[in-house]
Amino acid sequence: KLALLDSADLTGKKIVISAGATQEKIDPVRFITNHSTGKMGFALARAAMLRGGQVTLVAGHNSCEPITGIKTIDVSSADEMRSSIINESESADIIIMAAAVADFKPSAVSENKIKKKNLNDMSIALSKNPDILKELGEKFDDKKTIVGFAMETEDLIKNASEKCVNKNVDFIVANNLKTTGAGFGTDTNVASLIDRYGNISELPLMDKFELSNIILDKALSINKSK
Ligand code: CTP
Ligand code: CA
Repeated sequence: KLALLDSADLTGKKIVISAGATQEKIDPVRFITNHSTGKMGFALARAAMLRGGQVTLVAGHNSCEPITGIKTIDVSSADEMRSSIINESESADIIIMAAAVADFKPSAVSENKIKKKNLNDMSIALSKNPDILKELGEKFDDKKTIVGFAMETEDLIKNASEKCVNKNVDFIVANNLKTTGAGFGTDTNVASLIDRYGNISELPLMDKFELSNIILDKALSINKSK
């Protein structure tokens, strides 16, 4: 079922969506990040707004036009994204983690630019970032609908199903990065929706906006008493 744009079926619901990439500082000029452009999360935010939802977009680094009329909180690191998301989620009905969060950050940020003189090779110690989606699953699963993404290059269904269970979320939108038309920076996606009961829906290639509406349809079909 494709949602009609004028159906306003998200009226009265607060939806928190994360988008884009986090950046983890190494020193004042360098950082660790990934290829996310934010298109999927921004498409979700636009779709949710057009369906009448009260949307908060927690945006990491992205190359998307800001969306007028949507509360947007710009963040940089995973730690910043975590505090904004947890904060906004207290009053949310639906939470969707479309952001590409860096799994690791430098254990220490150098106050000054690291100089190459006297170094022939170097390594940077990294520490694990908080798993925001897992924390959301632990804190809010009994009351709120929680949706995650999974980006895989192999064993898509198995890996994404494991993420759904381990993070205790309602369903996962899984992409295979190697599929044509899916992945970073494209306007389209090829995704499978995998829920906690093992239901798998393999969707064809479609526009990220159209996929957003299918994700919102499934999120709305999950009713949790608050
Ligand atoms: N995620 C998160 N916090 C992190 C890492 C990931 O909230 N520190 C979220 C992503 O936003 C996504 C889901 O977890 O919704 C899965 O992200 P993904 O990178 O595919 O999986 P990981 O659990 O990080 O495992 P791996 O990268 O090793 O496959
Ligand atoms: Ca990851």
